[in-house]
Amino acid sequence: MDGEVVLVTGGSRGLGLRLAHEFGGRGASVAICARGRERLTRAVAELTSQGIDAQGVVCDVTVPEEVEVLPEEVVARFGRLDVLVLNAGIMRVGPWETLTEEHFAQALDSMFLGPLRLVRAAFDPLRESGGRIVTITSIGAYLSVPHLMPYTVAKHAEAALSESLAAESAGTGVRVTTVVPGLMRTGSHRGAVFDGSPEREYAWFALLAGLPLLSVGAGRAARRIADAVERRRGFLVLTPAARMGMAAHGLAPGLVQASMRLIGRVWPDIPSEPRELPGSEAARSLKGRAVGVVTFLNERAAHRLDQVSRTRQTRGVGARR
Ligand SMILES: NC(=O)c1ccc[n+]([C@@H]2O[C@H](COP(=O)([O-])OP(=O)(O)OC[C@H]3O[C@@H](n4cnc5c(N)ncnc54)[C@H](OP(=O)(O)O)[C@@H]3O)[C@@H](O)[C@H]2O)c1
Repeated sequence: MDGEVVLVTGGSRGLGLRLAHEFGGRGASVAICARGRERLTRAVAELTSQGIDAQGVVCDVTVPEEVEVLPEEVVARFGRLDVLVLNAGIMRVGPWETLTEEHFAQALDSMFLGPLRLVRAAFDPLRESGGRIVTITSIGAYLSVPHLMPYTVAKHAEAALSESLAAESAGTGVRVTTVVPGLMRTGSHRGAVFDGSPEREYAWFALLAGLPLLSVGAGRAARRIADAVERRRGFLVLTPAARMGMAAHGLAPGLVQASMRLIGRVWPDIPSEPRELPGSEAARSLKGRAVGVVTFLNERAAHRLDQVSRTRQTRGVGARR
C-alpha cells in the first residue's frame, strides 16, 4: 500500500489502533481520529516510532462540524485519501428497560449517522483516488443478542448503510468492504458501560469476549481486514462462530430467535435499584477479577491496546493535530 493514505476512525486504541499499525506496516500513511486527545497523541507517537507517517485528529464523529472538515484535514496533510475505515464505536450492556432514549440516540449517532456524514464528506477524494470504504460492523448487525439493544440497533443500521453504499457506488470507482466481526480480543470490555446489575453484566460480557475459542485476537483480525481491503473484497466475516451465526439466522431465523429468548432468560435480571458502571470499575469487583483469570488473553490485549491505563482525557478545538 506504498503511497496510499488511510483514515481510521477510532484509531486511538483497540482494533482501530491495530489497524493503523497494520496499514502503516504495509507502507500506507495513516490518519487516526478519536475524541480523547491523550490516547490519540500516544497512539500517533507509537505509530511514528515504528516509522509510520501518522497524523492524529481530535474528532467526535457525532459532531457534524468536526466530521465535515476531517477528510479535508487529511488531504491537506497527505495530498490524497485512499481508504476510509469506519471503525469508531461505543458499547453499552444491560437490559433495555434500564436504558433511556438518549442511550439509543448516542449509539445511532456514533455508529450510523457519524459514518453516514463521514462518507458524504470523504466521497469526492475517494472517488478521485478510486478508493475504498471499509465498515466495521458486527455480528450484532445480524443477530440480536439480549442486553445489547442500542448497540444492535445501531449496528443493524450501519450494516444496511454499508451494503446500500456498496450497491450504489457501482460505477464510481469506489469499493465498499463490509466487515462483520464476531468477538475480538481488543480489550474493549474495559471501556464499555454496564447497566442494571453492572458487575453481573460485566461478568458475562467479559467472559464471552475473552474466550479463545469464540474470539479472535485483534492482530489477526487487523491482518485479515487489511488483506480484504487490498483485494477489494466486498464482504468479510471474522470468526467461525460469526459465520455459523449468520448461516443459522439465514436458514432458520425462528430457531435463532428461540435461542436468544433462552439466553435472555439466563442473563441477569433487572435489580430493584439499577446502577451504571464503566467496565474499568466493574473489572475490580470480585466477579470481574474472577473472569479476568479465565480471559487473560483479553486482559493482555486491554493492556497492549491502551484500554486500561485510563487518565482523564481532555478535548478542545485548539489542538486538532
Ligand atoms: N471488540 C469486539 O469484540 C467487537 C466485535 C464486533 C464488532 N466490533 C466493532 O469494532 C469496532 C472497534 O471495536 P473495539 O473493540 O476496538 O472498540 P474500542 O476498543 O472501544 O475502541 C473504540 C474507538 O472508537 C473511538 N470512538 C468512540 N466513539 C467515538 C466518537 N464518537 N468519535 C470518534 N471516535 C470515537 C474511541 O476513542 P475515544 O473514546 O477517545 O473517542 C476508540 O478509539 C467498533 O465499531 C465495534 O463495534 C468490536
